[in-house]
Amino acid sequence: MNEKNINPIENASTRKAAPAPEQYSKEMSKEYANVVEIDPVKQYSQFPEELKLLGKLKGKKLLDIGCGSGGFTRMMAERGAEIFGYDPSLEQVEKAQEEEERHPLGIKYIVSDRPSISPDIKFDLASSVMVLVHAEDKQKLQEIFQYANDSLKTTGRFVSIVLNPNFKRLGEAVYNRRFTREGNKNFADFLDSKGTSLLPEPLTSIHHSKDEYEEAAKNAGFKRVEWKTLSVDPRGKEKLGVEFWDKYEEDCPWIGLVAYKDE
Ligand SMILES: C[S@@+](CC[C@H](N)C(=O)[O-])C[C@H]1O[C@@H](n2cnc3c(N)ncnc32)[C@H](O)[C@@H]1O
Repeated sequence: MNEKNINPIENASTRKAAPAPEQYSKEMSKEYANVVEIDPVKQYSQFPEELKLLGKLKGKKLLDIGCGSGGFTRMMAERGAEIFGYDPSLEQVEKAQEEEERHPLGIKYIVSDRPSISPDIKFDLASSVMVLVHAEDKQKLQEIFQYANDSLKTTGRFVSIVLNPNFKRLGEAVYNRRFTREGNKNFADFLDSKGTSLLPEPLTSIHHSKDEYEEAAKNAGFKRVEWKTLSVDPRGKEKLGVEFWDKYEEDCPWIGLVAYKDE
């Protein structure tokens, strides 16, 4: 896939990008994007928790790694961040760009898995929500950490949400998903309230242990890594009831990871 420079950041240049992961084929992208728009886990936990971990955004330069269709990118932009988002999926980025054109927030998007940005442009923060779990092996994982590290100012932080490597309830229906694992592959089946699958096939991602994440971050030059338990926004409990979120904080399928460039 060629990198498509939809709305490039100043001085960004073009280079060849790797193909998007198989599960983000055109059809799946559309269906997945539809599910994401109504996903209570994203709306009431992953996104608000990522915002909390990122902290104050007003006036901050932020790199959104794996921005997808831009829903969360827009939430960050609405809080005052100046954002550059990239993603290897053309369909997802086109959707993000269309929304940016309808309601401009000054977000720059590019289709790539590693855009060439001028070394003079450095970010205060890098964010990735459920992206590192798509790095197919240790080398790819380290490449994403390396790209984040190279793009950040010396005081920068890389804030991510990933699948919790120590999640215990594999095989059970939890929230609106059922997770299973075979070897280093994780499968997430999206379920409706009756437990019926919403997508034609489960989403595949890669299991990385906490040690593997930490090693990749340190090899890329981050000085330390902190793990952050996720909780649920009170509005989510109000909307879906506390039963829906049973054992969420105790055995959460997702976890926050903050990598710091300085001590
Ligand atoms: C689960 S989606 C998350 C999208 C968005 N961050 C969100 O939370 O709504 C994962 C995204 O990561 C992107 N992705 C996969 N590999 C990537 C890589 N190496 N670099 C950047 N993005 C990648 C996919 O194309 C996909 O859009």
